Amino acid sequence: HIPVIAIDGPTASGKGTVAHRVADKLGFHYLDSGALYRLTALSALRRGTSLTDEHALAKLAEHMACSFTGGDIILAHENVTDAIRAEEVGNTASRIAALPAVRQALFGLQLGFRKTPGLVADGRDMGTVIFPHAPLKVFLTASVAARAERRYKQLIEKGISANMEDLLMDLQARDDRDTHRAIAPLVPAEGAHVLDTSQMTADQAVEQVLKWYAA
Ligand code: C5P
Repeated sequence: HIPVIAIDGPTASGKGTVAHRVADKLGFHYLDSGALYRLTALSALRRGTSLTDEHALAKLAEHMACSFTGGDIILAHENVTDAIRAEEVGNTASRIAALPAVRQALFGLQLGFRKTPGLVADGRDMGTVIFPHAPLKVFLTASVAARAERRYKQLIEKGISANMEDLLMDLQARDDRDTHRAIAPLVPAEGAHVLDTSQMTADQAVEQVLKWYAA
C-alpha cells in the first residue's frame, strides 16, 4: 500500500514549499496539482479557447503533453515553469477549475503520481476528492494578510513589481471562488489536521507535518 500525504489549503498558504520539503525529507514523490490546472489555463489562453467552453477545455486538459522533470514543468517541449506562475494564469486556472469536466479530465492523471515509496500531494481537493483514503491529511492555512505578504515577497524576489492592495483583492477573489464553487470546494477534509502558519516558518510547518506522519 503506497502512502499519500494530502496537503490542501488556500492560495499562498505556503503549501507548495511545505509539501515539497516534506516530500524531500521522506524521499517521496511530489504532486503539484495546481500546476495541472495552471497548465490547462496556459494552453487555453495561448490557443484562445473560450473559458466557458467546458468541453473544449476538458479536451485540452486530457490531451496535454506535460511532464515534470527535476523541478521543471514542460508543456509540449517548452519549459513553462515560470510562465504558469503568472497571475493571469493563476486566475484563469481558478476559473476553469470550477468546471466539472475539467476536474474529471485531470482526475486519472493525478492518481498516476502515486508511486512507491509514497506521495505528497498538494492542492485544494487532495484529501477530499483525489486521495480520500490518505493516511495523513493536512489543511494548511494562514491569514489573508500573511498570505498576501508572502506572495508580495515572492514576486519582488523574482523582480516582478507588485501592489499589495491588488494582491489582497486577488487573493480574496480567488479564495472566494475556490471555497464557494459547487464542485470540490476548498474545505478541510474529514480527519484533516488544520495548521495555521501565519506565525510559523516553513521549516516549523514541515516539522509539524512530519511529526503527524510519524505518529
Ligand atoms: O495552487 P495553485 O495556485 O497553483 O492553483 C491554481 C488554481 O487551481 C487554484 O486557485 C484552484 O482554483 C485550482 N486548483 C484546484 N484544485 C487543486 C489545485 C488547484 O481547483 N487540487
